[in-house]
Amino acid sequence: MYSIEQEKQFLQLAKQLQATEINENDLTIVRDIIEYADWKYYVQDNPVLADLEYDILFKKLKAFEEQNPIFITTTSPTQRVAKGLNTNFSTVAHLVPMLSLENSYNAEDLIDWDRKCKELSGETIIEYCVEPKFDGASISLVYENDELSRGATRGNGTEGDDITINTKQIRSIPIKAAISKYNLKQIEIRGEVVITKKRFEEYNNKLIADGQQPMANARNAASGSLRIKDPKEVAKRNLDAFLYNVSYTSLQENKTTHAHMQTHRGMLESLSLLGFKTSLDNTKTFSTIEEVTNYVQEFEQKRDQLPYEIDGMVIKVNRLDLQEKIGQTSHHPRWAIAFKFKARQATSKLLNVEYQVGRTGSVTPVAKIEPVSVGGVTISSLSMFNEDVINEKQLMIGDTVLIERAGDVIPYIVKSFPELREGTEQKIIFPTACPVCSEKLYKPEGEAVWRCTNINCEAQVIEKIAHYASKDALDIRGLGDALVRRFFEQGFLKNIVGIYHLPYEQLKSLDGFGEKSMLNLKEAIEKSKTQPLHRLIFGLGIRYVGETTAKALARTVSHLTDLYLKTKEDLLTIEDVGEKVATSIVEFFSHHDNRAILEALENEGVCLANTQKNEAMSGSLIGKTFLFTGTLSMKRSEAEAIAEKNGGTIIGSVSTKLNYLVVGEDAGSKLEKAKKLGSVTILSEEEFLKLVE
Ligand code: IVH
Repeated sequence: MYSIEQEKQFLQLAKQLQATEINENDLTIVRDIIEYADWKYYVQDNPVLADLEYDILFKKLKAFEEQNPIFITTTSPTQRVAKGLNTNFSTVAHLVPMLSLENSYNAEDLIDWDRKCKELSGETIIEYCVEPKFDGASISLVYENDELSRGATRGNGTEGDDITINTKQIRSIPIKAAISKYNLKQIEIRGEVVITKKRFEEYNNKLIADGQQPMANARNAASGSLRIKDPKEVAKRNLDAFLYNVSYTSLQENKTTHAHMQTHRGMLESLSLLGFKTSLDNTKTFSTIEEVTNYVQEFEQKRDQLPYEIDGMVIKVNRLDLQEKIGQTSHHPRWAIAFKFKARQATSKLLNVEYQVGRTGSVTPVAKIEPVSVGGVTISSLSMFNEDVINEKQLMIGDTVLIERAGDVIPYIVKSFPELREGTEQKIIFPTACPVCSEKLYKPEGEAVWRCTNINCEAQVIEKIAHYASKDALDIRGLGDALVRRFFEQGFLKNIVGIYHLPYEQLKSLDGFGEKSMLNLKEAIEKSKTQPLHRLIFGLGIRYVGETTAKALARTVSHLTDLYLKTKEDLLTIEDVGEKVATSIVEFFSHHDNRAILEALENEGVCLANTQKNEAMSGSLIGKTFLFTGTLSMKRSEAEAIAEKNGGTIIGSVSTKLNYLVVGEDAGSKLEKAKKLGSVTILSEEEFLKLVE
């Protein structure tokens, strides 16, 4: 896509442009650099510019275009950003109908298909291209004269919704593609819009935390996202698009078909070179169906390791001339077939609904079902999230239900089969009082989750203790949910602080809890006292404070009680802390009971000081601020770690607050600015290392 020289030049220019005003002569290069940075980030997963550097360039371009609108072009990166809402998606006809795929499930199916392909093509050996089958939402993109001219959903196969604006929010879809290099005037490309499992989970957690209904699976999340009316919201979903087929091409005048456009693999390679995201890494070609079968079966084992959901593999005849010869039905091409992985769906019976009270008092309905194996895992109990899910799916106790387990995502009920009811099924009645403490349940306006507001509710207390002891918090091995519950029920443990004065002599009398388990537990509890501060913060179970926020908070203090002093405004300056999180933190630390618990923990010997910071406090760079710029011989993060380890603090920009600027090769605007200021000591990497020696 880009030569090494070109990449180097882009990066150099990107740095230089940081400090200067841009004018009309810079427009092409600024746009090219942004496009290049997008490609590295979204297609190659290998970012080259710091977020801040990227933002500065983007803002400069935008500001210039706003002041000089005559210079705006349709392919400027600023044009991805949409203004206003879509009121309606108009319908557009696909250049070529979007077909489906025939499915196969085993080696015999593939042998049959191979035989048919050979019959229809008259060949004795056919080369097949095998690639993942993405489980997302299909899209069709048209590029004309090297520009994205249209994006559409599948629709009914012949016509789809025009979602051009929304496709532009997907940064791995280039808005410029030099198809003319392949002698093409127009091209229609098919692909799948997907969301990574990780982003899907994060997104769902956010929905749940906000009291909203989570999405059923990654596929629904992707296809739903494409139809959102607000393009800004689409952008936030962080979608990806893999392109896997060219359905139509038209040549430029007097040009002939480019050599790369003669095989499917060649087309994928061309798409990749044009800047599209493809699955070439996992695509292989074979010339026997046995090898194909081995590969797809092998791949099924790796399915869970992929960042995306795939539901099978697609096998395609590699030569395009043979594809044409083999032809298609009105439903699917005969030259391609899907090999579907084992179903992760199964049916079972809904036996009962139980209600679980979580750490924050949320009441979650849990379906108890007849145990059933779904894709190799036996399931007998699964979350129904909230009351709305039950109502929407119109579930009843006694119903036959369809269960799905997609990848690492928690299993859920897809639907019930009302037509199979016998009349003995019972309505599910959501409780109005807490099933544990009987306090009246409360549902905040606009939320879907009922909550028990009694902070002394047994269920909440148990969950809180279990969370405190969990692996990512204080990591007290052995003190899992079940044991916490047992200790609590026996009266040995009433709150977090109680962990530190368990009556070990009495514990010995518990069934199955021997001397050895006791010693191990004692040791793990002792160890928890000196865990890093961020683990303790996370372990406190402050609403909306996950691990990342806990780490960010810990970095800002020397002692946990410093957090008492932070105002909402202070907290808002921390990365990723927004209104809701900041309010929740302030509220937590202003609560007298919470402060009392922290005090008690400290009395028990739990370390509330930021030891990681204190270690550094003894270093030679104490009280000094550092900033690194340019290319260093070590990784920048390593250099920063060295400075921090010796007591230094890293800051983000050149100002009078900066003591040392450490410059590597090709340092740009920061160096200039530091020189201008005069107050900053400028060091080479070598000088910096001497300083820490
Ligand atoms: S080829 C004419 N390749 O699966 C060619 N489809 O269940 C038809 N899909 O309609 C498409 N990954 O939306 C192809 N690597 C892949 C695919 C893929 C996912 C989707 C596509 C198709 C559906 C059929």
